[in-house]
Amino acid sequence: MTPVRKAVILAAGLGTRMLPATKAVPKELLPIVDKPLIQYAVEECIEAGIDHIVIVLGPGKEAIAEHFAERTRADAYAREKGDAGLIARVSGPARLARFDYAMQEEALGIAHAVACAREFVEGEPFALLFPDDIIVGARSCVAQLADAFATTGGTTIAVQRVPRADIPQYGIVVPDGEGNPVRLRGVVEKPSIEEAPSDLGIVGRYILSDTIFTHIDRTPPGKNGERQITDAFASQLAAGEGVFGLAYEGTRHDTGRPLGYLVANVAVALAREDLAGPLRDRLRPLIAPEAP
Ligand code: UTP
Repeated sequence: MTPVRKAVILAAGLGTRMLPATKAVPKELLPIVDKPLIQYAVEECIEAGIDHIVIVLGPGKEAIAEHFAERTRADAYAREKGDAGLIARVSGPARLARFDYAMQEEALGIAHAVACAREFVEGEPFALLFPDDIIVGARSCVAQLADAFATTGGTTIAVQRVPRADIPQYGIVVPDGEGNPVRLRGVVEKPSIEEAPSDLGIVGRYILSDTIFTHIDRTPPGKNGERQITDAFASQLAAGEGVFGLAYEGTRHDTGRPLGYLVANVAVALAREDLAGPLRDRLRPLIAPEAP
């Protein structure tokens, strides 16, 4: 099986649910504690042995490329100071991987965004990540998917059980029997609770097989003129290709909305030795204020 050596990280969306924070600052650069969201996604790839990252940017989101470059004032300042710790923190992101950038001029959906990265990844399997999903756990979710792909050989999608009430916000998979990874019979984009074939929701991590662009080409634009990646998976299934779901180990936070963003910050801080104790002390009176 061809190993997974490359990843595409999508960062061309409008981030409307986090406005006004995302008016001038790309959503993917909002910090979780002291590191931008997108850097967590890159580090998850590195842990999976992937060292070539393609980031899909939209207009006005060039600051993301600045973050992974070594040409900013902060880099120059760190070098001038000669402080090794500072240099590591400032220039570290640029040294994590090889970075390439693709432009999606209009936010026309996930499948369209993936197609924008085609020239960099065509002809081999690759990981796809939505950086606004942060997955915290003992082992990188992308590494778990890459291991599963080594046995499935087909598009492999990270899934998790979602509360019934949240089903209409997710792509929902139709498993074909039991197992993990499990072979899928279908995928349904944002079904109603009544029509949902399962409670297994798709989260923003995938390994896409090398046939994916053929199927994206066959995917017509749907609602709002957007091309859905789930339609490309349905096309793979219709062509008799295996598509699989992997219930990964880890906790996922949807940082694309305010509550998930806040919880991710607290969860990541509570896992840090330098912050856990003082944060607990500060949170306690806020959560259960003592009577005056
Ligand atoms: P989301 O739907 O969560 O992000 O897409 P969004 O569109 O930026 O957010 P809202 O709904 O307006 O608040 C998941 C990921 O896919 C990227 C986004 O940047 C995000 O990382 N994306 C989405 C694209 O790159 N292009 C698109 O056309 C749509």
